[in-house]
Parts: sequence; C-alpha cells; structure tokens
Amino acid sequence: MAISNDQKSAPNNIAKGLITGAINWFNDRAPNAGVAYRKHMTEYFAPKNFNVWYYFGSLALLVLVNQILTGIFLTMHYKTSAAEAFTSVEFTIMRDVEWGWLIRYMHSTGASLFFVVVYLHMFRGLMYGSYRKPRELVWLLGMVIYLVLMAEAFMGYVLPWGQMSFWGAKVIISLFGAIPVIGNGLTEWIMGDYLPSDATLNRFFALHVIALPLVLLLLVVLHLGALHEVGSNNPDGIDIKYGPKGNRWSASAPKDGIPFHPYYTVKDLVGVGFFLMLAAFIIFFEPTVAGWFLEHDNFTEANRLVTPAHIKPVWYFTPYYAMLRVIPDKLGGVIVMFGAIILLFLVPWLDRSRVRSYRYRGWLSKAMLAVFAVSFVWLGKIGAGPGTDPVETQIGRVLTFLYFAFFISMPLWTKIDKTKPVPERVTMHD
Ligand code: HEM
Repeated sequence: MAISNDQKSAPNNIAKGLITGAINWFNDRAPNAGVAYRKHMTEYFAPKNFNVWYYFGSLALLVLVNQILTGIFLTMHYKTSAAEAFTSVEFTIMRDVEWGWLIRYMHSTGASLFFVVVYLHMFRGLMYGSYRKPRELVWLLGMVIYLVLMAEAFMGYVLPWGQMSFWGAKVIISLFGAIPVIGNGLTEWIMGDYLPSDATLNRFFALHVIALPLVLLLLVVLHLGALHEVGSNNPDGIDIKYGPKGNRWSASAPKDGIPFHPYYTVKDLVGVGFFLMLAAFIIFFEPTVAGWFLEHDNFTEANRLVTPAHIKPVWYFTPYYAMLRVIPDKLGGVIVMFGAIILLFLVPWLDRSRVRSYRYRGWLSKAMLAVFAVSFVWLGKIGAGPGTDPVETQIGRVLTFLYFAFFISMPLWTKIDKTKPVPERVTMHD
C-alpha cells in the first residue's frame, strides 16, 4: 500500500510541534533567558578586526571548565590527610584508578596552561590599551581574578603533599612572618600549626576545591558582564560605537561590529583546536615539561626532616619569587613582591597616552613595553634557578628596577611619546 506525503511527514510534524511547544513553555516561564542569550551572544556586537590575541579570553574559559571537571574526578579519589595524600595521588590516582593518570595530568597541565593563557590575555590588554576608559572595571576585575588564581594554584600545589608542596608552602606562608607585630601569629594562624601539617592540608583542600573556585566563577561572570556593558576593545584601540547608521544586522548597532554568535564562537573554535593539540601533546608525551609544570622534587613524599637542595615555586610565580630573593631584606622583599602586583592594578590611571593601542604609539612606548616583557620573563628564569650566583642576583636587581620603572615612569613616557593618527574605522590587517 502506497504511503502518502502527508503520512510521511506526520512524525516530523509531531517532533517539530513538541520542540516548539517545549521552547514556548520555557520562554513563558523564563522570558529573561532569551533576552540574556541575545544580549551576550547573537546581539553582542564585537569589533570585526579581532586577531589571534583575542583567542585567549575564550581559552581561559575553556581551561577553567577543564580544571573544574577534572578537579571533581580527582576529589573522588584524593585523601585529605598528611598520611595518605601523597599515596592517594601518586599510587591510587596515577596507577590504580582507570584513566586516573589522564585526569591528573589534564589537571596539572591545565593549571600551567591557565597561566600561559592568562599572561598572554593580560599582555594583549596592555598592548591594545584595553584597560583604558571605559574598561577600567574589566581590567580591575581581571586583576582580582589573577590574584585569586594565584592563591588557587598555590593551594592546589600543596595537595599532592610532595617535597615541593611542603617546602613551598613553608617558605611562602612564612613570608607573612615578615609583617611587624602580627607576622608570627598570622603565619601560625594560616598554617594551623608551626609547620605545614594535616591542619594546613585540610584548610587548603577546602579553599582549593570549593571556596576559591566559587569566587573565581563569580568574578569571571562579573568580568564578562562589565565587558559587555561597554563593549570590547580591538587591536586598533578605537571605538566602534559611533555613527547612527548601524550595520546589516541592526540599525542601532555599531558600524564595525559583528554578532558574537555565530561569528566569534566559530572563530574561537579554531583557537580551541590549536590549543587542544598543544595540551594533548604535553599531556601524552611530556607531562612534567622537564620539571617546569611538575617539579621533580614533588615526586618524593613530603619530609619535614629533609630540605630539598633548591626550593622554588612553579614557573608562573618565579618572576615575583626572583624579586623577593634579590632584595637582601625579608620585609623589603615582601613589599617589593606585592608592590609588583599592585602596580598592575594601577595601569589604567598611570597611562596618559592620547591613544589606546600601541599600534599608534611611538618608539618610546614600544621600547618600554618590550623592556617590561623582557624583565618579567628574565626574572622568571632567575627565580627558577638556584639563586646562588651573585652576578645573576645583580642582574635580578637591575631587572626588578626596570620592571618598577616601567610603571612608575609611565605617566611621563606615555605623555611625551609621539603618537600616530588613529584611523576613523577599524583596520583589518594583523
Ligand atoms: C579566569 C581568568 C579569565 C577569564 C576566563 C577571562 C575571560 C575573558 C573573556 C572571555 C574576554 C572576552 C574575550 C576577549 O577579549 O579575549 C575577556 C576580556 C578581557 N579580559 Fe579577561 N579573563 C580572565 C582573566 C583576565 C585577567 C587576569 C585580566 C587582566 C588583569 C583580564 C583582562 C581583560 C580585559 C582588559 C578584557 C577586554 C579586552 C578587550 O576588549 O580588548 N582578564 N576576558
């Protein structure tokens, strides 16, 4: 018996009807969900000239999700006690749990790649003046994220309870001892003991697994909310929000803006593809990255009676650690180290240039930015070394001076530096 066309399409129509019904049911009950989706995705008009530097924001989001998901599975097998923590990571998770080694390496590699991505994301902000008016709040929230991320990574590194977990925790927490009057009491209060111990491990676990991730998530929502209120900057550092003519999608939208979805969601997938290849290469072939991502000393269980030959933090902290070490006085070193981070908060008010992006600044600004980047990376290398070479210590002092000079003299060099005329509309070259 022949089946008519009407009969053939009947199941399709039922399915369509069900889906439309479900969407309408949802929209009636949560009308603002659609509004939010349009505001942040299909009707968020981002400048059309984003380049590769704009991949790192979405990559930071990807790594954040990876850390949370892999962290949940690690927590299922991790034991929070000084007696069992090391064994639960190095034996249970790495050897007994099915795919446990993969989850652990995804998490440890993710932590380092988080900082790679965030440092490049911050440098992009510096290059294109993304911290300038009206995006100061986006930058400030970003800086708070950076601080919380550092605390999160530091506490995470203590959890496997290896030698560097223990001694790193001891050195860093003891820094609070340099604070006059309350220093020693504060150190003891943070550790819950006179040395890193069970009490320290338990509180760091609570902070690392639930408290700080919640704060991070909230801050990221605020960071993106603040950005979407004022709109994204771009490599030219010029506004796309002038002119009443609109664009092909909307009469009230900026001329050079394109809908974030689907244009940038699809473009960001290209960055995700490259990033996943790099991450997979590290995870499968070189998970410790020759001791840079996971230090060799951390494959030995914590022992309070044996001090490792060189105590040093993971690479993303070493620029600040180098500053701490090259200053002869402990309190002075602590002040310089925290001062180096506080200065980054002040950049929106230190920069007095007439233009936002370094594309349209003179040679002086470009040279200063290069001096800053080289000092930071070189300090990172010095901080990762044993710190016993006096010549290197002198170089470290010069580099610390240059790092501070970049910020403190910024109002001057940004003011006197010659700028080039900025274009009327965004440009599409890289
Ligand atoms: C968990 C960490 C972070 C996440 C998930 C994150 C996410 C994002 C995303 C998705 C964007 C929009 C896309 C883009 O412009 O790349 C963005 C923009 C921005 N972020 Fe972050 N961010 C993080 C940390 C930071 C930090 C540490 C800073 C600086 C201190 C920062 C400063 C900025 C600035 C200034 C913009 C605006 C850029 C522009 O419009 O040119 N972010 N962020």
